[in-house]
Amino acid sequence: MSEKRLQLSERQTADFEMIGIGGFAPLTGFQGSEDWRNVCGQMRTSDGEYWPIPITLATDFECEVGDVVELSSDEGKHLGRITVNEIFDRDVEVEAEQVYGTTDSEHPGVAAIYEEGNRCIAGPIEVDDLPDHEEAFMRRYLTPEESKKAFADRGWKKIVAFQTRNPIHRAHEYLTKAALETCDGLFIHPLIGKTKPGDIPADVRMKCYEVLMEDYYPEDRVILGVKPAKMHYAGPREAVLHAIIRRNYGATHFIVGRDHAGAGDYYGTYDAQLIFDDIDIDELGIEPLMFEHTFWCNECEGLASGKTCPHDSESHLFLSGTKVREMLGNGEMPPPEFSRPEVAQILIDAYREEDNAD
Ligand code: ADX
Repeated sequence: MSEKRLQLSERQTADFEMIGIGGFAPLTGFQGSEDWRNVCGQMRTSDGEYWPIPITLATDFECEVGDVVELSSDEGKHLGRITVNEIFDRDVEVEAEQVYGTTDSEHPGVAAIYEEGNRCIAGPIEVDDLPDHEEAFMRRYLTPEESKKAFADRGWKKIVAFQTRNPIHRAHEYLTKAALETCDGLFIHPLIGKTKPGDIPADVRMKCYEVLMEDYYPEDRVILGVKPAKMHYAGPREAVLHAIIRRNYGATHFIVGRDHAGAGDYYGTYDAQLIFDDIDIDELGIEPLMFEHTFWCNECEGLASGKTCPHDSESHLFLSGTKVREMLGNGEMPPPEFSRPEVAQILIDAYREEDNAD
Protein backbone atom coordinates (compact mmCIF):
# COMPACT_ATOMS: atom_id res chain seq x y z
CA MET A 1 0.00 0.00 0.00
CA SER A 2 1.46 3.37 -0.95
CA GLU A 3 2.10 5.91 1.77
CA LYS A 4 -0.35 8.77 2.09
CA ARG A 5 1.38 12.08 2.69
CA LEU A 6 -0.15 15.47 3.23
CA GLN A 7 1.80 18.72 3.22
CA LEU A 8 0.30 21.09 5.80
CA SER A 9 -0.19 24.81 5.24
CA GLU A 10 1.78 27.29 7.36
CA ARG A 11 -1.20 27.72 9.71
CA GLN A 12 -1.74 23.96 10.03
CA THR A 13 1.97 23.43 10.63
CA ALA A 14 1.73 25.85 13.55
CA ASP A 15 -1.28 23.96 14.94
CA PHE A 16 0.60 20.66 14.61
CA GLU A 17 3.51 22.12 16.53
CA MET A 18 1.33 23.61 19.26
CA ILE A 19 -0.52 20.31 19.72
CA GLY A 20 2.73 18.35 19.53
CA ILE A 21 4.56 20.31 22.24
CA GLY A 22 1.59 20.38 24.61
CA GLY A 23 0.87 24.08 24.09
CA PHE A 24 -2.71 23.20 23.14
CA ALA A 25 -3.33 20.70 25.97
CA PRO A 26 -5.73 18.98 26.48
CA LEU A 27 -5.81 18.63 22.67
CA THR A 28 -3.89 15.64 21.32
CA GLY A 29 -4.97 15.92 17.71
CA PHE A 30 -7.06 17.85 15.21
CA GLN A 31 -10.63 18.24 16.43
CA GLY A 32 -13.65 16.37 15.03
CA SER A 33 -17.27 17.42 14.46
CA GLU A 34 -18.47 17.03 18.04
CA ASP A 35 -15.61 19.11 19.37
CA TRP A 36 -16.11 21.62 16.56
CA ARG A 37 -19.79 22.06 17.46
CA ASN A 38 -19.15 22.34 21.19
CA VAL A 39 -16.22 24.70 20.80
CA CYS A 40 -18.12 27.02 18.46
CA GLY A 41 -21.35 26.99 20.47
CA GLN A 42 -20.22 26.59 24.07
CA MET A 43 -16.52 27.27 24.13
CA ARG A 44 -15.86 23.76 25.41
CA THR A 45 -14.50 20.51 24.03
CA SER A 46 -16.79 17.48 23.89
CA ASP A 47 -15.11 16.39 27.14
CA GLY A 48 -16.36 19.59 28.76
CA GLU A 49 -13.06 21.46 29.01
CA TYR A 50 -12.77 25.13 28.12
CA TRP A 51 -11.67 25.56 24.51
CA PRO A 52 -12.58 28.71 22.58
CA ILE A 53 -11.45 28.29 18.93
CA PRO A 54 -11.69 25.05 16.90
CA ILE A 55 -8.38 23.51 15.91
CA THR A 56 -9.33 21.66 12.76
CA LEU A 57 -7.46 20.33 9.75
CA ALA A 58 -9.32 21.54 6.68
CA THR A 59 -8.23 19.83 3.48
CA ASP A 60 -9.57 18.15 0.39
CA PHE A 61 -6.88 15.48 0.70
CA GLU A 62 -8.29 12.09 -0.32
CA CYS A 63 -8.30 9.62 2.51
CA GLU A 64 -10.63 7.39 4.52
CA VAL A 65 -11.43 6.90 8.17
CA GLY A 66 -8.78 4.57 9.58
CA ASP A 67 -6.02 5.84 7.28
CA VAL A 68 -2.73 6.91 8.73
CA VAL A 69 -1.61 10.01 6.84
CA GLU A 70 2.00 11.14 7.07
CA LEU A 71 2.31 14.88 7.61
CA SER A 72 4.96 17.32 6.53
CA SER A 73 5.37 21.00 7.25
CA ASP A 74 4.69 23.84 4.82
CA GLU A 75 8.42 23.78 4.15
CA GLY A 76 8.36 20.06 3.37
CA LYS A 77 9.90 18.73 6.60
CA HIS A 78 8.55 15.39 7.82
CA LEU A 79 6.68 15.97 11.09
CA GLY A 80 4.68 12.86 11.97
CA ARG A 81 1.24 11.52 11.20
CA ILE A 82 -2.46 11.70 11.85
CA THR A 83 -4.69 8.69 12.31
CA VAL A 84 -7.90 9.76 10.64
CA ASN A 85 -10.89 8.98 12.82
CA GLU A 86 -13.41 11.29 11.16
CA ILE A 87 -13.95 13.19 7.93
CA PHE A 88 -16.57 15.90 8.25
CA ASP A 89 -17.80 19.20 6.93
CA ARG A 90 -17.74 22.18 9.23
CA ASP A 91 -19.79 25.23 8.44
CA VAL A 92 -17.31 28.08 8.19
CA GLU A 93 -20.05 30.70 8.36
CA VAL A 94 -21.32 29.30 11.64
CA GLU A 95 -17.73 29.18 12.91
CA ALA A 96 -17.21 32.78 11.80
CA GLU A 97 -20.38 33.96 13.53
CA GLN A 98 -19.96 32.02 16.77
CA VAL A 99 -16.21 32.28 17.24
CA TYR A 100 -15.30 35.57 15.54
CA GLY A 101 -18.63 37.34 16.04
CA THR A 102 -18.77 38.32 12.37
CA THR A 103 -19.16 36.67 8.96
CA ASP A 104 -17.35 39.55 7.27
CA SER A 105 -14.71 38.17 4.92
CA GLU A 106 -12.63 41.29 5.51
CA HIS A 107 -11.89 40.01 9.01
CA PRO A 108 -8.43 38.38 8.73
CA GLY A 109 -9.30 35.33 10.85
CA VAL A 110 -12.62 34.81 9.08
CA ALA A 111 -10.95 35.23 5.68
CA ALA A 112 -8.46 32.52 6.63
CA ILE A 113 -11.13 29.94 7.55
CA TYR A 114 -13.19 30.80 4.45
CA GLU A 115 -10.12 30.16 2.36
CA GLU A 116 -9.49 26.82 4.09
CA GLY A 117 -13.02 25.61 3.36
CA ASN A 118 -15.39 23.21 5.10
CA ARG A 119 -14.02 19.70 4.69
CA CYS A 120 -11.90 18.59 7.63
CA ILE A 121 -10.06 15.46 8.64
CA ALA A 122 -9.72 14.77 12.34
CA GLY A 123 -7.76 12.51 14.63
CA PRO A 124 -4.86 12.15 17.02
CA ILE A 125 -1.36 13.05 15.86
CA GLU A 126 2.00 11.45 16.48
CA VAL A 127 5.08 13.66 16.44
CA ASP A 128 8.43 12.57 14.99
CA ASP A 129 9.89 16.03 14.58
CA LEU A 130 9.01 19.69 14.92
CA PRO A 131 8.99 22.40 12.24
CA ASP A 132 12.20 24.38 11.77
CA HIS A 133 12.57 27.95 12.98
CA GLU A 134 15.29 30.54 12.53
CA GLU A 135 18.14 30.66 15.01
CA ALA A 136 16.87 33.91 16.55
CA PHE A 137 13.70 32.06 17.58
CA MET A 138 15.34 28.77 18.50
CA ARG A 139 17.63 30.35 21.09
CA ARG A 140 14.50 31.47 22.93
CA TYR A 141 12.42 28.37 22.19
CA LEU A 142 10.93 26.65 25.22
CA THR A 143 8.35 23.88 25.20
CA PRO A 144 5.72 24.05 27.96
CA GLU A 145 7.66 21.40 29.86
CA GLU A 146 10.85 23.45 29.59
CA SER A 147 9.25 26.72 30.64
CA LYS A 148 7.65 25.07 33.67
CA LYS A 149 11.06 23.75 34.64
CA ALA A 150 12.66 27.17 34.07
CA PHE A 151 10.08 28.78 36.39
CA ALA A 152 10.56 26.09 39.03
CA ASP A 153 14.37 26.36 38.84
CA ARG A 154 14.06 30.06 39.62
CA GLY A 155 11.70 29.34 42.49
CA TRP A 156 8.89 31.36 40.89
CA LYS A 157 5.39 30.56 42.09
CA LYS A 158 3.43 33.47 40.70
CA ILE A 159 4.24 33.91 37.03
CA VAL A 160 2.58 36.44 34.76
CA ALA A 161 2.63 35.83 31.00
CA PHE A 162 2.44 38.47 28.29
CA GLN A 163 1.16 37.71 24.79
CA THR A 164 2.15 40.05 22.00
CA ARG A 165 2.26 40.28 18.23
CA ASN A 166 3.79 43.74 18.28
CA PRO A 167 7.08 45.33 19.21
CA ILE A 168 7.13 46.19 22.91
CA HIS A 169 6.57 49.94 23.09
CA ARG A 170 6.52 51.92 26.33
CA ALA A 171 2.84 51.15 27.03
CA HIS A 172 3.44 47.40 26.71
CA GLU A 173 6.55 47.66 28.85
CA TYR A 174 4.53 49.46 31.51
CA LEU A 175 1.86 46.72 31.60
CA THR A 176 4.43 43.98 31.95
CA LYS A 177 6.34 45.79 34.69
CA ALA A 178 3.21 46.79 36.58
CA ALA A 179 2.18 43.12 36.53
CA LEU A 180 5.65 41.97 37.57
CA GLU A 181 5.49 44.24 40.63
CA THR A 182 3.14 41.74 42.26
CA CYS A 183 4.46 38.51 40.71
CA ASP A 184 7.68 36.51 41.06
CA GLY A 185 8.44 36.36 37.37
CA LEU A 186 7.40 37.64 33.97
CA PHE A 187 7.14 35.42 30.90
CA ILE A 188 7.28 37.52 27.74
CA HIS A 189 5.80 35.22 25.15
CA PRO A 190 5.47 36.77 21.68
CA LEU A 191 3.67 34.95 18.93
CA ILE A 192 5.94 34.03 16.00
CA GLY A 193 3.45 32.19 13.78
CA LYS A 194 1.50 33.60 10.87
CA THR A 195 0.15 37.14 11.28
CA LYS A 196 -1.69 39.40 8.86
CA PRO A 197 -0.07 41.68 6.29
CA GLY A 198 0.85 44.98 7.93
CA ASP A 199 1.87 43.40 11.25
CA ILE A 200 5.58 43.72 12.04
CA PRO A 201 7.35 40.45 11.10
CA ALA A 202 8.41 38.26 14.02
CA ASP A 203 12.14 38.35 13.19
CA VAL A 204 12.15 42.15 13.43
CA ARG A 205 10.13 42.06 16.64
CA MET A 206 12.54 39.55 18.10
CA LYS A 207 15.38 42.06 17.75
CA CYS A 208 13.25 44.61 19.60
CA TYR A 209 12.56 42.17 22.44
CA GLU A 210 16.23 41.26 22.70
CA VAL A 211 17.39 44.87 23.15
CA LEU A 212 14.77 45.37 25.84
CA MET A 213 15.86 42.18 27.58
CA GLU A 214 19.41 43.47 27.52
CA ASP A 215 18.84 46.98 28.83
CA TYR A 216 15.39 47.37 30.35
CA TYR A 217 14.25 44.13 31.98
CA PRO A 218 15.87 42.46 35.00
CA GLU A 219 17.41 39.22 33.81
CA ASP A 220 16.63 37.27 36.97
CA ARG A 221 12.92 38.11 36.86
CA VAL A 222 12.05 37.86 33.17
CA ILE A 223 12.10 35.02 30.65
CA LEU A 224 11.61 35.66 26.94
CA GLY A 225 10.12 32.72 25.06
CA VAL A 226 8.43 32.32 21.67
CA LYS A 227 5.02 30.91 20.87
CA PRO A 228 4.96 29.17 17.49
CA ALA A 229 1.21 29.69 17.01
CA LYS A 230 -0.73 31.61 14.38
CA MET A 231 -2.95 34.63 15.07
CA HIS A 232 -6.72 34.30 14.64
CA TYR A 233 -7.60 37.94 15.49
CA ALA A 234 -10.63 36.52 17.29
CA GLY A 235 -10.55 39.13 20.08
CA PRO A 236 -12.36 37.78 23.19
CA ARG A 237 -12.29 34.11 22.15
CA GLU A 238 -8.60 34.39 21.36
CA ALA A 239 -7.87 36.02 24.72
CA VAL A 240 -9.21 32.82 26.31
CA LEU A 241 -7.08 30.68 23.99
CA HIS A 242 -4.01 32.79 24.78
CA ALA A 243 -4.67 32.32 28.49
CA ILE A 244 -5.08 28.53 28.18
CA ILE A 245 -1.83 28.29 26.23
CA ARG A 246 0.06 30.25 28.92
CA ARG A 247 -1.47 28.03 31.61
CA ASN A 248 0.00 25.11 29.69
CA TYR A 249 3.39 26.83 29.70
CA GLY A 250 3.18 27.12 33.50
CA ALA A 251 2.05 30.72 34.01
CA THR A 252 -0.41 31.50 36.80
CA HIS A 253 -1.49 34.93 35.51
CA PHE A 254 -2.07 36.40 32.09
CA ILE A 255 -2.18 40.04 30.94
CA VAL A 256 -5.27 41.16 29.04
CA GLY A 257 -5.18 44.81 28.04
CA ARG A 258 -6.95 46.95 25.52
CA ASP A 259 -8.45 45.29 22.42
CA HIS A 260 -6.57 42.05 23.02
CA ALA A 261 -6.09 40.04 19.79
CA GLY A 262 -8.41 42.40 17.96
CA ALA A 263 -8.37 43.56 14.37
CA GLY A 264 -10.08 46.65 12.97
CA ASP A 265 -13.25 47.60 14.81
CA TYR A 266 -14.72 44.15 15.19
CA TYR A 267 -14.57 44.09 19.00
CA GLY A 268 -15.20 46.57 21.79
CA THR A 269 -12.07 47.86 23.56
CA TYR A 270 -12.64 45.66 26.61
CA ASP A 271 -14.63 42.73 25.15
CA ALA A 272 -11.61 40.46 25.60
CA GLN A 273 -11.70 41.24 29.33
CA LEU A 274 -15.48 40.92 29.71
CA ILE A 275 -15.52 37.36 28.33
CA PHE A 276 -13.72 36.21 31.49
CA ASP A 277 -16.73 37.33 33.60
CA ASP A 278 -18.53 34.17 32.48
CA ILE A 279 -15.56 31.86 32.96
CA ASP A 280 -14.77 29.90 36.10
CA ILE A 281 -11.18 31.03 36.67
CA ASP A 282 -10.31 28.10 38.97
CA GLU A 283 -11.46 25.70 36.29
CA LEU A 284 -9.57 27.62 33.61
CA GLY A 285 -6.43 27.35 35.69
CA ILE A 286 -4.96 30.80 35.02
CA GLU A 287 -6.01 34.22 36.23
CA PRO A 288 -6.36 37.13 33.82
CA LEU A 289 -4.85 40.46 34.91
CA MET A 290 -6.81 43.25 33.27
CA PHE A 291 -5.27 46.54 32.21
CA GLU A 292 -6.98 49.65 30.97
CA HIS A 293 -5.74 51.64 28.03
CA THR A 294 -2.23 52.77 28.89
CA PHE A 295 -0.43 55.86 27.58
CA TRP A 296 2.21 58.45 28.39
CA CYS A 297 0.78 61.45 30.26
CA ASN A 298 2.68 64.75 30.15
CA GLU A 299 1.11 65.93 33.39
CA CYS A 300 1.82 62.70 35.25
CA GLU A 301 5.26 62.66 33.57
CA GLY A 302 4.98 58.94 33.23
CA LEU A 303 3.04 56.03 31.83
CA ALA A 304 -0.47 55.84 33.22
CA SER A 305 -3.87 54.46 32.34
CA GLY A 306 -7.48 55.55 32.30
CA LYS A 307 -7.60 54.08 35.80
CA THR A 308 -4.64 55.93 37.30
CA CYS A 309 -4.45 59.26 35.43
CA PRO A 310 -6.67 62.20 36.44
CA HIS A 311 -5.76 64.40 33.43
CA ASP A 312 -7.69 64.83 30.24
CA SER A 313 -6.72 63.46 26.86
CA GLU A 314 -4.88 66.63 25.79
CA SER A 315 -2.12 65.65 28.21
CA HIS A 316 -1.89 62.15 26.76
CA LEU A 317 0.49 61.11 24.05
CA PHE A 318 -1.53 59.20 21.50
CA LEU A 319 -0.13 57.95 18.21
CA SER A 320 -2.25 55.74 15.98
CA GLY A 321 -0.71 52.62 14.48
CA THR A 322 -0.91 54.26 11.05
CA LYS A 323 0.90 57.36 12.30
CA VAL A 324 3.67 55.30 13.92
CA ARG A 325 4.14 53.24 10.75
CA GLU A 326 4.31 56.46 8.73
CA MET A 327 6.94 57.96 11.03
CA LEU A 328 9.09 54.84 11.07
CA GLY A 329 8.74 54.47 7.30
CA ASN A 330 10.09 58.01 6.91
CA GLY A 331 13.02 57.21 9.16
CA GLU A 332 11.56 59.43 11.88
CA MET A 333 11.92 58.51 15.57
CA PRO A 334 8.66 58.44 17.53
CA PRO A 335 9.00 60.26 20.87
CA PRO A 336 10.94 58.29 23.51
CA GLU A 337 7.82 58.40 25.67
CA PHE A 338 6.15 56.22 23.04
CA SER A 339 8.98 53.87 22.11
CA ARG A 340 12.50 53.25 23.38
CA PRO A 341 14.95 54.73 20.83
CA GLU A 342 16.73 51.35 20.53
CA VAL A 343 13.42 49.73 19.55
CA ALA A 344 12.46 52.55 17.18
CA GLN A 345 15.86 52.29 15.46
CA ILE A 346 15.40 48.56 14.79
CA LEU A 347 12.00 49.28 13.26
CA ILE A 348 13.33 52.16 11.13
CA ASP A 349 16.13 49.91 9.85
CA ALA A 350 13.61 47.18 9.03
CA TYR A 351 11.41 49.59 7.06
CA ARG A 352 14.49 50.84 5.20
CA GLU A 353 15.55 47.29 4.31
CA GLU A 354 12.04 46.53 3.10
CA ASP A 355 12.13 49.62 0.87
CA ASN A 356 15.51 48.62 -0.55
CA ALA A 357 14.22 45.13 -1.26
CA ASP A 358 11.27 46.52 -3.28
S1 ADX B 1 -2.29 41.11 20.67
O1 ADX B 1 -2.98 40.79 19.42
O2 ADX B 1 -1.20 40.21 20.95
O3 ADX B 1 -3.25 41.25 21.79
P1 ADX B 1 -0.61 43.45 21.08
O4 ADX B 1 0.72 42.84 20.88
O5 ADX B 1 -0.80 44.84 20.56
O6 ADX B 1 -1.72 42.58 20.38
O7 ADX B 1 -0.99 43.49 22.61
C1 ADX B 1 -0.41 42.68 23.57
C2 ADX B 1 -1.15 42.88 24.90
O8 ADX B 1 -0.98 44.24 25.32
C3 ADX B 1 -2.64 42.66 24.85
O9 ADX B 1 -3.07 42.14 26.09
C4 ADX B 1 -3.21 44.06 24.64
O10 ADX B 1 -4.51 44.14 25.15
C5 ADX B 1 -2.24 44.88 25.49
N1 ADX B 1 -2.08 46.28 25.06
C6 ADX B 1 -1.46 46.73 23.94
N2 ADX B 1 -1.41 48.08 23.92
C7 ADX B 1 -2.01 48.50 25.05
C8 ADX B 1 -2.29 49.79 25.62
N3 ADX B 1 -1.90 50.93 25.06
N4 ADX B 1 -2.96 49.82 26.80
C9 ADX B 1 -3.36 48.69 27.42
N5 ADX B 1 -3.13 47.45 26.93
C10 ADX B 1 -2.46 47.35 25.76
